[in-house]
Amino acid sequence: MDNNSIHGMWSSRLAFILAASGSAVGLGNIWRFPYLASDNGGGAFVLIYLACILLVGLPIMAAEILMGRQGRMSPVNTLRKLTREGGHSGAWTLIGWIGLVAAVAILSFYSVVGGWTLHYAWLYFAQLFGGAPITDPGATFGAMLASPSTLIFWHSVFMLVTVGVVAMGVEKGLERAVKFLMPLLFLILLGLLAYGFSTGKVGQAFEFLFKPDFSEVTGDTLLAALGQAFFSLSLGMCGIMTYGAYLPKDISIPRVAVTVAGMDTAVALLAGLAIFPVLFAFGLDPAGGGPGLIFTSLPLAFNDMAFGIPYAVAFFGLLFVAAWTSSISLLEPPTAFLVEMGKQSRKKAAIVAALVIWAIGLVTALGFNVWQSVRVFGRDLQGAIEFVASDIMLPVGGLLIALFAGYVLSRNITRGELSHLNEGGYKAWRFLTCIIAPVLVLIVLAAKLLG
Ligand code: PHE
Repeated sequence: MDNNSIHGMWSSRLAFILAASGSAVGLGNIWRFPYLASDNGGGAFVLIYLACILLVGLPIMAAEILMGRQGRMSPVNTLRKLTREGGHSGAWTLIGWIGLVAAVAILSFYSVVGGWTLHYAWLYFAQLFGGAPITDPGATFGAMLASPSTLIFWHSVFMLVTVGVVAMGVEKGLERAVKFLMPLLFLILLGLLAYGFSTGKVGQAFEFLFKPDFSEVTGDTLLAALGQAFFSLSLGMCGIMTYGAYLPKDISIPRVAVTVAGMDTAVALLAGLAIFPVLFAFGLDPAGGGPGLIFTSLPLAFNDMAFGIPYAVAFFGLLFVAAWTSSISLLEPPTAFLVEMGKQSRKKAAIVAALVIWAIGLVTALGFNVWQSVRVFGRDLQGAIEFVASDIMLPVGGLLIALFAGYVLSRNITRGELSHLNEGGYKAWRFLTCIIAPVLVLIVLAAKLLG
């Protein structure tokens, strides 16, 4: 194994944990998780999601990190290296390609939604200086979607700040950005939770989120929960693999994987517990909120609470930062790949990748207005891209990663990489990676295809 990556290295375990949890914690936790829970009926979805994190997400996260650390390159070239050195079929390189395409697709809409958070941070910031209050959140949200220029402007700003950090490189850009802003987000969520308690509706939210009604579970519910587990943990598209490539040799992979998955799950649940009391308190229907859920519900709380406006600035500002640290990890794999391919500078590679993704993002932005009536797989354009990338490509990528790490990579390699596990722990990882995770992913994909 190489001791270093040409792209740079994390300076410590903490730096990796911050970067990886920065990647994991993002719009997926605070925007996507609540709206999927709402669209999929609550409790059963949440429990299936939690099971997916534990049984599928964790083992695959360890697999991604260890593959990255073995290869020390961008995913495509890591896979090339691992298959070449092990004498395995080069077809496994497909994992890296799926990851690249998924990263590009996800970032293209992620940046547009990241732009929403900026727009809202701005709207609230303007209110501090006499801007119009948001009295009808549904109308404000609708007006934003109806305006191509608003969406494209903020999408562009979001892409610009993302490329800015990626262009600066691993230690200088990525690490610095994540170190102090993540804990702040956690605090803000705790504050919202406290507001939720003050409405007296936390119990109801708890029941909605954790009392399962399995009679309503369909193939769609299963797939949504599995896809969300992958999306939220940034798995299946080799993002964590790329970060693993910069991980120093002596750091315990199981330990960082458990820490990152734990933090990510905690933030998602906290976000759910902060947002659903607001829905109940204001008599909104918790079912079927769609992607607008937090943007149409939370403003009601901000209008009602003491210091609600500055609080809203902080909330959307930090949500933007959370999205930013995730988008960095989406731009990193294509950038690292371009650097390795063309021997070009990191800056140039990051800019080229960002430009292409920005252009694809226009499809999402225009899908809300100009191309509003277009339907793909029964969804609007943004929904379709989100569905294919996160609910299909991530699970398929994750399945292949599990198979590769479980059956193709030699045990010598995986045992060495997971040396911090005792024998029982290693056996458990192998059982999950070789059997449980692949079988579960296949069952869910089959359930969707068949019904
Ligand atoms: N995990 C990120 C989030 O929850 C999104 C993401 C997906 C980032 C896939 C990287 C890769 O917001």
